[in-house]
Amino acid sequence: MKILFTRLIQSPLIEQLSKEFEVVMWHEENTVMPREELLKEVADADAIFTNLTDQLDTEFFEHAKKLKVVSTMAVGFDNINLEEATKRGIPVGHTPDVLSEAVAELALSLMFACARRIVESMQFIKENKWKSWGPYLYAGQRISGAKLGIIGMGRIGKILAKQAKGLNMDVIYHNRRPIEQIEAELNVEYRDLESLLKESDYVVMLAPASNATYHLLGYDQFSLMKPTSIFVNVSRGSTVDEEGLYKILSEKKIFAAGLDVFESEPIQNNHQLLTLENVIAVPHIGSATKETRDKMVEIALNNLLNGLRGERLLHTVNEVVYK
Ligand code: DGY
Repeated sequence: MKILFTRLIQSPLIEQLSKEFEVVMWHEENTVMPREELLKEVADADAIFTNLTDQLDTEFFEHAKKLKVVSTMAVGFDNINLEEATKRGIPVGHTPDVLSEAVAELALSLMFACARRIVESMQFIKENKWKSWGPYLYAGQRISGAKLGIIGMGRIGKILAKQAKGLNMDVIYHNRRPIEQIEAELNVEYRDLESLLKESDYVVMLAPASNATYHLLGYDQFSLMKPTSIFVNVSRGSTVDEEGLYKILSEKKIFAAGLDVFESEPIQNNHQLLTLENVIAVPHIGSATKETRDKMVEIALNNLLNGLRGERLLHTVNEVVYK
């Protein structure tokens, strides 16, 4: 049986696997397997180990004649056409939970970095502009005592809320529907989107990409935020209209934005958002700690092996019928 890896993954677990299976692997860690090659290689593959940069659309599934399982090394699966997979009885596995802390920590890192103007002030030193301590030199925003608004209260949201509570923040959230259990457990309050944007000092986007969340926030929504407030996106770029975000930031109607994700990735270095001093951008590294990535590989491999054996996956996002 053939397993296709669309990225170079270096793990002893894969050496084990190659004793039992034919392993075909893209030779680089940080480039995408070209589309043509992907379609060619998947034609006789029994399993695919994929990630958020591969488009598993109708055309892909038409080529994947033998595929028994899709395993993505990510929690998000908006790049996979679930209807096509399900129609063909192909289970799709993903890697939730193990990355929640890491993603929440990156959200906090971006909140801190924006609030305390870390990147701008380092640049100031590098450019040799620092002449003296100043009473308001790079004065930023507080975290302790401020209000955090989380959009999308799922696994990561819950962890972020707990971490924020530890920083003495007030936490409110917006979700498709209120979750009473979380409110009781974490002492957080539900708000409609408009109220959340108006009240929050920090707004963190955690809602997954979907038709319902496409451009959920644009200029009009950002206009509701306070001039001192900070926006952070560690979910998916499609949830934000980047034109609107650029406009609000360049007009200085919000304080700053910390962005891990973009409408089109990789973002190019001439992108207008990168011209702004009040933007901190990082290259989709939400779950990127060594420990977390190791765990993601392990879970994704387990999902994949279960799928090959015709067993239920550890974490699946579609319902296929097992015989
Ligand atoms: C995911 O797993 O979907 C994240 O975006 C990776 O950081």
